[in-house]
Amino acid sequence: MPQPITSLEGEVYYPPQEVIAQAHVPDWDGLQAEADADYLGFWEARARELEWQAPWRMVMDDSRAPFYKWFLGARTNIVHNALDRHVATWRRNKLALIWEGEPGDQRSLSYHALHREVGQFAQVLKSMGAERGDRITIYMGRIPEIIVAMLACAKIGAVHSVVYGGFSVEALHGRIEDSQSKLLITADGGWLNGKIVRLKDIADEALRRCASVEHVIVVRRTGHEVRMEPGRDFWYDDLLQLPLSRPGNDRPQTEILDAEEPLYILYTSGTTGKPKAIVHTHAGYQVGTYATLKYVFDLREEDRWWCAADPGWVTGHSYIVYGPLLNGATSFMYEGAPTYPYPDRWWRMIEKYGITILYTAPTAIRGLMRFGDAWPARHDLSSLRLLGTVGEPINPEAWKWYHRAIGKGRCPIMDTWWQTETGMFMITPVPSAPLKPGSATKPFFGQQAEVVGEDGQVVPDGEEGNLVLKRPWPAMLRTIYGDDDRYVEQYWSKYPGRYLTGDSAKRDRDGYFWIIGRVDDVIKVSGYRLGTAEIESALVSHASVAEAAVIGLPDELKGHAIHAFCILRAGYSPSIQLQEELKAHVAHEIGPIARPAEIQFTDALPKTRSGKIMRRVLKARALGMSEGDTSTLEE
Ligand code: PRX
Repeated sequence: MPQPITSLEGEVYYPPQEVIAQAHVPDWDGLQAEADADYLGFWEARARELEWQAPWRMVMDDSRAPFYKWFLGARTNIVHNALDRHVATWRRNKLALIWEGEPGDQRSLSYHALHREVGQFAQVLKSMGAERGDRITIYMGRIPEIIVAMLACAKIGAVHSVVYGGFSVEALHGRIEDSQSKLLITADGGWLNGKIVRLKDIADEALRRCASVEHVIVVRRTGHEVRMEPGRDFWYDDLLQLPLSRPGNDRPQTEILDAEEPLYILYTSGTTGKPKAIVHTHAGYQVGTYATLKYVFDLREEDRWWCAADPGWVTGHSYIVYGPLLNGATSFMYEGAPTYPYPDRWWRMIEKYGITILYTAPTAIRGLMRFGDAWPARHDLSSLRLLGTVGEPINPEAWKWYHRAIGKGRCPIMDTWWQTETGMFMITPVPSAPLKPGSATKPFFGQQAEVVGEDGQVVPDGEEGNLVLKRPWPAMLRTIYGDDDRYVEQYWSKYPGRYLTGDSAKRDRDGYFWIIGRVDDVIKVSGYRLGTAEIESALVSHASVAEAAVIGLPDELKGHAIHAFCILRAGYSPSIQLQEELKAHVAHEIGPIARPAEIQFTDALPKTRSGKIMRRVLKARALGMSEGDTSTLEE
């Protein structure tokens, strides 16, 4: 409930007393000061809460900055802390995952069951020749097997590369090719909005364009008929039946690794060119995701945590898969669309499963808000105690609806700012913090953030500038896969010694950060991160397009919508039919999320002298147009 504004400026929501009383961190400012004074000590204490096969010699090594190392000398495997250590305790009987499919089918896995299936599948991967350090691509929907597959890779020291199941042919092909994966793990299909997403067909088409993949493992999900290439493709459930284990050693061992060995790569869009693979490692990442989830969402043994993201994005990696398991928590995962068959699907499941914490994106909140209060009001949401949001700035209107209609005014909202690169929450409140709708509040314990101008000087409070982070953190990216130079260039060269986030932000007089958005050519569509370059390259891969430029324009629901400007090749002329064909082409190449909202044909694009397209000019022009005018074809 809003309370009279005391010392903080603007609209402030103070946490309810009972939330503060039960919080892991009742004194936000106090722990901040403590962690600030002894930053490495703070992280070392968090690391001690996990188990290690050999201790570290050094908490953080900055001798080769910006190639920072964490927990140097330690030996570990994230799967040991996420699964193995729990099955040795009473938690073996605790549910690790509760899952509901879109058609309504259900599956629950205890820690024991998940540990067992991961062990079996790890054995399968080994028998197919997967070795430590190998990249394995995973392309699936939100089904339990995606979690099993990720953990099985990590268990044997292989590096998973998950490609979001909403991506399509070229996006999948590019990521397989770049990572040189030998194995692809996919499913026949997935359910979305009552329809089958034909994952295996898309995978087959992508594989025709690349040669590295030797075997494909296919989970049977939808049961529709798919082509299985003899010798190359195998059914997951068939493989799990095989007696693969060696006699007397039927429990595959978790491979114990050096702290800095890679855990996964995850592709994300940057300023230029193709998506780049962000590298995360075992030791630092496990400490970072474990501690941030524990503190920010005040995780307790009895919680039922629901991160409604997709495992294919970093949010899912950190807070569906690793963070909750590291905490020994019970997670809920749902396969399908939030509005299927009706707009109360989410609220129904919160009631049914007794979800205590819901973590989602502003775009989902806005989408559900559209249907009005009656849908959530039909359900008992009293099990909820905390809410969360991530992915883009949340507009205060959506924040207030979420707080009122879903949280019934009782549940503080954790607005967590972070990135694929950061691996973990970076600017975020904790439940005992006073909240301001639309602000992600302050840096996580011990971290320092700044808003700086082009000259690198901190700008005055209230002014916009580039958001930078001042201290390395355990779950930070280690590099861009195969491209150390680009890592240094992109994140550490503009302001040496400080990490460039690519976001613009403001800081207010209370030290609260307000994220404005990307400063580079990255567009956030429904919270998904897409590069203008990828979409442009998909457009020019169509026979009719000579040149293309893509911008993001404000959209009430999606945050931003994609607008594309295309110059046609000789012999092609503008038509509504061609517009539709190009939209479908982009959706086919990258995925439905990248489908442009508008295609505009043009004879020329504004460019700098050196030939760079000035997207800013296009954006200004587009915003100056009256509504309804955008689809008019230019000659
Ligand atoms: O622009 C910021 C926005 O999402 C970007 C990172 O996108 P991605 O790597 O896909 O990771 C998204 C999920 C961690 C950031 O640079 N962003 C993320 N969280 C917030 C946000 N913008 C405002 N508020 C947030 N809470």
